[in-house]
Amino acid sequence: MVLVAQELPLVCLMLLLLCREPGVNAQAGQGFSLQQPQAKVTVAAGETLTLNCITSGIARPGPVKWLKGWGSGNKTVYDQQKWDPSSRVTRAVNGSDTDFTIRIRNVQPEDMGTYYCVKFVKGDSGDDEVFQRGNGTEVSVQAKPSPPLVSGPEQRARPGESVPFTCTSGGFFPETIGVKWFKNRDTMGGQRPQVTEWRRKTYNMSSTAMVTLQKDDVPSELICEVQHSTLLAPLRGSYQLSRVLRVPPSVEVRAEPSPVEVNKTVTFTCLVKEFYPANVSVSWLENGIEIKVQNISRPWKLPRGLFELRSQVEVQATEEKNGSTIICTVVHDGQAPANYSASLWISNPAQGGFQMDKGVNPLSSLLLLLWMGVLLEKGLLGGLLFFLFERMKRKASEMLPYPAPPPAPAAGARGLATASSGV
Ligand SMILES: *[C@@H]1O[C@H](CO)[C@@H](O)[C@H](O)[C@H]1NC(C)=O
Ligand SMILES: *[C@@H]1O[C@H](CO)[C@@H](O)[C@H](O)[C@H]1NC(C)=O
Ligand SMILES: *[C@@H]1O[C@H](CO)[C@@H](O)[C@H](O)[C@H]1NC(C)=O
Repeated sequence: MVLVAQELPLVCLMLLLLCREPGVNAQAGQGFSLQQPQAKVTVAAGETLTLNCITSGIARPGPVKWLKGWGSGNKTVYDQQKWDPSSRVTRAVNGSDTDFTIRIRNVQPEDMGTYYCVKFVKGDSGDDEVFQRGNGTEVSVQAKPSPPLVSGPEQRARPGESVPFTCTSGGFFPETIGVKWFKNRDTMGGQRPQVTEWRRKTYNMSSTAMVTLQKDDVPSELICEVQHSTLLAPLRGSYQLSRVLRVPPSVEVRAEPSPVEVNKTVTFTCLVKEFYPANVSVSWLENGIEIKVQNISRPWKLPRGLFELRSQVEVQATEEKNGSTIICTVVHDGQAPANYSASLWISNPAQGGFQMDKGVNPLSSLLLLLWMGVLLEKGLLGGLLFFLFERMKRKASEMLPYPAPPPAPAAGARGLATASSGV
């Protein structure tokens, strides 16, 4: 007991030292603790990141700092003693000695990493020494993909050709991304997106789809749709197929009238049909010599987006031009010229009129037929009437009682006389 009684003041003193002067010397850390409760935090790019850190107890003098990364390559994000007000970092509770929660504004994918809240103390040399650190908070920044861009081939292609289109989008995190292709409203196949890391912790992607162009694709739209965990609704990029489509024209040359009477005018029409794009030029040649165009229409738009155009020239049908070839040359969208021709035919005046005219109006030939029919019918009727009249006359002369016919010289002569008198 005596021993105990003697030792009591010492114990009390030790307890007092422990309780009242913590943080000093060897036992100083026992009363100090640092809590970094967040293990993982996900934040969207552009948003504010909050990193929690609470201390309790007292430690030797020295700053609390936030470090990004540990070991070599660590970066001081916040230093209690050297705070830069222009930085993106602010304290949640200004000047607090226990709450070292920080906020980082406008977070970018580069901010991804593990952050440590660290209590430093002044070492003997005057440098800051790590005293205690939190468990670290892993920060991942979710970044939205950029609006998808669809690109097509450099040159136009014809209907039936298969052409690649590429959809690209970038700057997203995490890596997983979905891509869908549509032509107008219909889904279509496309290559799986190729994802590549870009600028540390973000990704870019590209996906290619093949499209077989159609003649009626002028109004068609190609759509690339991108889905990502950061997006509420998919992002869309589109491409007008008219940008890469070239539909060559079909061309028809007509001469009217054909054949033509000598020294009259023939109109040659070059009908340039169903082409795209609209830029087309038409020229005319007559036996190798250019003819001035009389009349050219502007290209007009057909319901499916293709164009049509008409060019006309007039040619004097002199006799020596019979059988000569008139050429319509069409140059479409910088492509090689294509020639289309028609011949000038002069009707032969010797044969005259419609007879040699193969292209004669069907109505007029019908009328002709009718007219011939009427003539024939009239002729037949006339013949019949004449025949009946003859018979009646003959009968009447036979039945006549007087005057008595003169004695007939011969039967043949009598018949002849009757016939002539009857006419
Ligand atoms: C941080 O980096 C510096 C310089 O690279 C190094 O001296 C220091 O020890 C590092 N600190 C920690 C806590 O890793
Ligand atoms: C056509 O014209 C030429 C020259 O003008 C002339 O000599 C010729 O007689 C004409 N022919 C006819 C059938 O009119
Ligand atoms: C023009 O040529 C065609 C065919 O060779 C021929 O049938 C026609 O009679 C010709 N016309 C003239 C006026 O010579």
